Amino acid sequence: MTDQHLDTSGKAWSGRFSEPVSDLVKRYTASVSFDQRMALQDIRGSLAHARMLAKQAIIAAADLAAIERGMGQIQGEIERDEFQWNLDDEDVHLNIEKRLIALVGDAGKRLHTGRSRNDQVATDIRLWLRDSIDAIDELLRNYQAALLDLAERHAATPMPGFTHMQVAQPVTFGHHLLAYVEMAQRDRTRLADCRRRMNRLPLGAAALAGTSFPIDREFVARELGFDGVCENSLDAVSDRDFAIEFCAAASLTMMHVSRFSEELVLWLSPRMGFIDLADRYCTGSSIMPQKKNPDVPELARGKTGRVYGHLMGLLTLMKGQPLAYNKDNQEDKEPLFDTVDTLVDTLRIFAELVPGISVKEAAMGEALKQGYATATDLADYLVKQGLPFRDAHEAVARAVRAAEAKGCDLAGVSLEELRTFSALIGADVFAVLSIDGSLAARNHIGGTAPAQVRAAIGRAREALA
Ligand code: ARG
Repeated sequence: MTDQHLDTSGKAWSGRFSEPVSDLVKRYTASVSFDQRMALQDIRGSLAHARMLAKQAIIAAADLAAIERGMGQIQGEIERDEFQWNLDDEDVHLNIEKRLIALVGDAGKRLHTGRSRNDQVATDIRLWLRDSIDAIDELLRNYQAALLDLAERHAATPMPGFTHMQVAQPVTFGHHLLAYVEMAQRDRTRLADCRRRMNRLPLGAAALAGTSFPIDREFVARELGFDGVCENSLDAVSDRDFAIEFCAAASLTMMHVSRFSEELVLWLSPRMGFIDLADRYCTGSSIMPQKKNPDVPELARGKTGRVYGHLMGLLTLMKGQPLAYNKDNQEDKEPLFDTVDTLVDTLRIFAELVPGISVKEAAMGEALKQGYATATDLADYLVKQGLPFRDAHEAVARAVRAAEAKGCDLAGVSLEELRTFSALIGADVFAVLSIDGSLAARNHIGGTAPAQVRAAIGRAREALA
């Protein structure tokens, strides 16, 4: 006879208890409704553990074969959506283990030797997040590729560059887009750093202190593609810093997407009218027939707040937790999953949306005329004639004031009148005051000259390859 007669609820740990938990407590403490997302990682981890147990002669080869057969069937059931998830079995780990025992009997009961759900869940999350990071890296790459294609088409398209939301100097639209390619590149390196620090195996830590069985942790680490093992068993089961770090990297990525989103919203507003966006990324208004609203970028801006919230939630979850595992940590999954889902959806949609941007070059050109965008070029011209920069700045400021009074741009002021601000101004000044001249002059690495933009696109493409 087994100890089944002591069992009050059929739970894996119920032998210790004299009454079943209430339905409310069951629902409150269960995680299976959300942690079943890690089912395939859980199976992978269990198989690696079982292979190690057999190799170390802790379980028999026949037990391993039964476990592999049972897990194969369970994986099929999960993939076909036929697996019966049960709230009574609390979490993904116990659901799968219970099904394994139902399928293969005692061999299934031996799987949990030398292991705890504490090191099991810490392993599952790492495996799950590692897969997610790899997928996100690919999506960031696609987003960068889309930005580069658009930048290439507009390597020489002039638009106003802004500071303080006021026209500052001419830039090319391609150069502007390349700023977002750079941000995404740093985002990718942050994720890669996070992945590298995370990629260590917790299994073997068991509940918190390690196990008395002669396990081979390095073997399990290799089986699961980890770079090594977590060196301290207490730390292995309890810290979720890797999830927090991921959410921090995700927050920065979303922050960058939100800046691009905000610019799309501004450029799309009829006041600016710099771009148009394919209808499939916009929605209409139920009351105002004329409206075409940039819902996708606005939502991306909004969802950024949601991801920051998850970062704060996880930091707070971890704050002040004593060693080692505490059930608080079960609350790590929903914010983490939602962060991944939000980031994945946002990046997927942006990689699709960018090719749907069409540029209204005339509107960009018009805006450039209104902002005295080449004032700095005129100041630089005077400096090259020998005037100290501060004096040049002053002379040009007065010229701008005169142009403003006349209601024209600097190129619209006559040579005669320009010379009243500085006798150093000659007829060649008009080449400097032209937008194309201003762009071409910024001809150094990181500058907006079309030749530099094309070179930067080439380098970025090489980095993506
Ligand atoms: N569902 C649990 C979690 O997500 C698994 C670990 C449970 N461990 C325990 N000692 N209750 O954290």
